[in-house]
Amino acid sequence: MTATIPEQGGATAPTVSLATKGLTKSFGGVRAVDGADVTFHKGKINALIGPNGSGKTTFFNCVTGMIKPDSGRVTLDGRDITSKPPHRIAAAGIGRSFQLCRIFPRMTVLENMLVGVRSTSVLHRLGSSRNAGDIAKARELLRRVGIDHLEQSEARDISYGQQKLLELAGVLMVDPETIMLDEPAGGVNPALIGRIGTLVRELNAEGRTFVIVEHNMDMVMSLSDHVVVFDRGRPIAEGPPSLVQNDPRVLEAYLGV
Ligand SMILES: Nc1ncnc2c1ncn2[C@@H]1O[C@H](COP(=O)(O)OP(=O)(O)O)[C@@H](O)[C@H]1O
Ligand SMILES: [Mg+2]
Repeated sequence: MTATIPEQGGATAPTVSLATKGLTKSFGGVRAVDGADVTFHKGKINALIGPNGSGKTTFFNCVTGMIKPDSGRVTLDGRDITSKPPHRIAAAGIGRSFQLCRIFPRMTVLENMLVGVRSTSVLHRLGSSRNAGDIAKARELLRRVGIDHLEQSEARDISYGQQKLLELAGVLMVDPETIMLDEPAGGVNPALIGRIGTLVRELNAEGRTFVIVEHNMDMVMSLSDHVVVFDRGRPIAEGPPSLVQNDPRVLEAYLGV
C-alpha cells in the first residue's frame, strides 16, 4: 500500500476565472497572438506583462470581442465566450479599459459616465440613459475615484490621469466581476498611479478579479498575485511576482540577453 503524500504547504489550487486555449490572431504575416494558453485566477489581481508588440492588447481585444480571433477558445468561469460581440462579453461580466483612453472629449465627465451604461445594457438602450438611479450611481463612482468635483468639466479639459480614472469609473457603472485594464498607469503622474493602485486593491477586496497589462514594474510587483509574461504572442512564464521577476526567460525577453 502506498502512503498518500499530503500536498506541501496545504495551499488550495486557485480557481480559474478567464482562460484561453490556443488563442491565435494574425495581422497579415504577423502572429500577434500565437496559440496562447493562459489562465487567470478568480478573485485575484492578475498581471499580463511583456515587451512592446508582444500581443497584450491584441489578446485583450480578442478576449473582449473587439477582434475576432482566427482560432482558439476563450472561457469565463468555464463558459465559452469565444468571438461573442463586445456587449455580450460585457453582459457576461467583463469590463475593460483601453490603452489609449476611450472617452468622449466634448462630453462632460458625468455624460461620459452615462453613455457607457447606455451602450452596454439593452435595458438602458431602450429607455433614457439619464434616469435618477444612473446619475446617482455615476456620482457615487466619480466620488470614489476622486473626480466628482469635475463632473461638469468637458472630458478633454481634465488631465490624462483624471481621464484614466474616469474610464475606470465608467467601467464600474456596469458592475463587472472581472476588470481588464490596459496600461492603467501609462502616462499618469505618480500621485494618480498611487490612487489607481489603491482603487484596484479595494475593488479586488470586494471580490472583483483583475487582469492588468502594465509596464510600470513597481506597480505590477506590488499589486499582483499572479503574473503572466507574454513574448511573441504567447506566455513564456507565469507565477507569483517574486518568481517571475527572477525568471531567466523573462529577463531574456525584456533585455534580449
Ligand atoms: N490592427 C493591427 N493591424 C496590424 N498589425 C497589428 C494590429 N494590431 C496589432 N498589430 C501588431 O501585432 C503585434 C502585437 O501588437 P499589440 O497587441 O499591440 O502588442 P502589445 O500590446 O503587447 O504592445 C505587433 O507586431 C503589432 O504591430
Ligand atoms: Mg498594448
